[in-house]
Amino acid sequence: MIMGRRIHIVEVGPRDGLQNDPANLSVEQKLEFIARLEAAGVTRMESGSFVSPKAVPKMADSAAVFAGLTRGGRAKHIALALNETGVRRAIEAKADEINFVLVAGEGFGRRNQGMSPQESADMLAKCAPLVHEAGLPLSATISVAFGDPYDGDVDIGVVGNLAAQAQRAGIAELALGDTIGAATPWDVRQRIERVRMEAPDVSLRLHFHDTRGAGLANVFAAVEAGVDVIDASCGGIGGCPFAPGATGNVATEDVVWMLHRAGFETGVDLEQMIATARWLEGVLGHGVSSALSRAGVFPRG
Ligand code: COA
Ligand code: ZN
Repeated sequence: MIMGRRIHIVEVGPRDGLQNDPANLSVEQKLEFIARLEAAGVTRMESGSFVSPKAVPKMADSAAVFAGLTRGGRAKHIALALNETGVRRAIEAKADEINFVLVAGEGFGRRNQGMSPQESADMLAKCAPLVHEAGLPLSATISVAFGDPYDGDVDIGVVGNLAAQAQRAGIAELALGDTIGAATPWDVRQRIERVRMEAPDVSLRLHFHDTRGAGLANVFAAVEAGVDVIDASCGGIGGCPFAPGATGNVATEDVVWMLHRAGFETGVDLEQMIATARWLEGVLGHGVSSALSRAGVFPRG
């Protein structure tokens, strides 16, 4: 069952990771980070977002980052977008894929993107044809799918309903995003089952933040439920500027170590990913939270 099963890691460090970090990286430093991630075996990564520079200043240079990418390698570069302007800018920047953000909570939705859950679904329906006409893969993330920092619990029915609408809009893949680290492994299984019922044609990806210590347990639950695609950020950096107390994503090297140790394949070179996390500490000017960057690999190579 496990041996050789492939789990695809989507590296979100250059976007989710850097959008909330106190450090200000230059375009060149971002490009070096991306190049190091690609050299470590990453085949899909969020390399920037096309949102309002006033809302997220750290992503204001995403067009320059995309213009500077070395193309033709193994990595596909995903651009995040939340509205029509963002989708148009992402297409213009020659993103390989567009990831749209739906929102499952009213409180977070208003503050993060000025939209209710239904307005975010309507926006996706409006934007999807643009992406399809451009011939690009379209995926979506349901943010705060496990809990809203302002409103609290998020009804599973809202998540299911958004998933159904996302399927109707023609997306290929849907991520359930635990933006604030509110999920438990049991919750993960339930929401995956619900989304599979409501949107049977989309494949699933899970996106966890380790805010309350359940990050890796949630990855385990998702993989056990048959999910093959997991978001993670090098070093475990990241968070959302609109989620108070937000902390980073599950760390890529921690997820990869756990999966490799169990017999899964990810295609990621663990030692190189750890080296990248350590390099990142120097660039950011502060430590990162991942366990493997501190403890090292077991057993030692
Ligand atoms: N890229 C750049 N600028 C954009 C933009 C985009 N995708 N969408 C809107 N803008 C600009 C408009 O040109 C306008 O600029 P102005 O004030 O100089 O005239 C301003 O933003 C407001 O435009 P409006 O269409 O009214 O958008 P809004 O204020 O409702 O904001 C979002 C909507 C989505 C653009 C904004 O809330 C946002 O960028 N949120 C980012 C959330 C995020 O990235 N969170 C983390 C990841 S989930
Ligand atoms: Zn996130």
